[in-house]
Amino acid sequence: MKNKKLVFSGVQPTGNLHLGNYLGALKNFLALQKETDCIYCVVDLHAITIFQNPKELKNNILETTASFLATGIDPNKSIIFNQSSVSGHAELAWILNCVSRIGWLNRMTQFKDKAGKDKEKASVGLYIYPNLMAADILLYKSTHVPVGADQKQHLELSRDIAQKFNNDFNCAGFFPIPEPLIPKNISRVMSLRDGLKKMSKSEESDYSRINLKDNAEDIIKKIKKAKSDSEPIPDNLKMLEQKPEAMNLLNIYSEISKTSLEKVLNEMAGKEYSDIKKKLADILVSEICPVGKEINKLMKDETYLLQILKKGSEKANIKAEENLKIIREKVGLI
Ligand code: AMP
Ligand code: TRP
Repeated sequence: MKNKKLVFSGVQPTGNLHLGNYLGALKNFLALQKETDCIYCVVDLHAITIFQNPKELKNNILETTASFLATGIDPNKSIIFNQSSVSGHAELAWILNCVSRIGWLNRMTQFKDKAGKDKEKASVGLYIYPNLMAADILLYKSTHVPVGADQKQHLELSRDIAQKFNNDFNCAGFFPIPEPLIPKNISRVMSLRDGLKKMSKSEESDYSRINLKDNAEDIIKKIKKAKSDSEPIPDNLKMLEQKPEAMNLLNIYSEISKTSLEKVLNEMAGKEYSDIKKKLADILVSEICPVGKEINKLMKDETYLLQILKKGSEKANIKAEENLKIIREKVGLI
């Protein structure tokens, strides 16, 4: 039997959602909600693989929920919930820890980046994090996963785990092999300070990113200060590709203004970066500021946000338990 299209994705509640999360993930979440069933999860168990201050974590779970809602994700259409409130994620993760191979995890570049030089001191959770991510997806038998390019390797691992489970337990086609949905034009929004690094919550300088909660003044200031290039805007893509900071600014502009990069280059070739920066700041202010305002508004109503999560968890839990029952049987657990 062919599985119905079911979308699943997760965002870590580690504070400060930014333009990278917005263009790489949230905007696609919204588009997909229009065409199919979607489950969007605040992945709090992933967040604690690196120590989180408990009070801040609670606030960040609410703020990530508010960010989903503020970008237009509709809790009546899509399931919005937090991972730790559906215990099936942790249970399936354990089963998948026993399916996944150490050799597979040893290849994960995100672990190497996040663990830094002293890998012995990283939490065990950080190491097996990709198995938990596979559990998130497979628990619902999800078929499609919208993510930014940085998650591609983790998605490939989820596919390998699904395949191995289906082989080991002789149940071809039981877990769908999940398809990544990575934005074509802008799969990786880069830092405004360094065009070779991705825009990230953990980058020290706040000038490196546009946060969803930035006000107009912040956005204008950050775009003004963003690194660009000393020469005028080139007239062809080949030359632009040699200039990562300039490429990033034009790429963001092209994505938000829904104009192809070629067309932007045609219009802007020979002009100074201050010209494109002005246009970019304007369009960012009109797209991001309303989202930020809505997040701030929603954050004033904790009861409402908790109620959204509770309702979402109840719906997710029903689906999770249904699938887990069969998964336990397949593995031979009583
Ligand atoms: P995280 O905040 O790491 O949980 O990421 C949430 C989602 O945003 C994932 O789908 C990431 O791939 C995506 N994402 C994070 N940073 C970027 C970026 N700089 N460019 C594009 N997508 C991103
Ligand atoms: N690992 C993802 C990130 O850091 C978050 C995540 C956890 C996720 N579980 C997921 C994304 C399942 C997609 C599907 O961005």
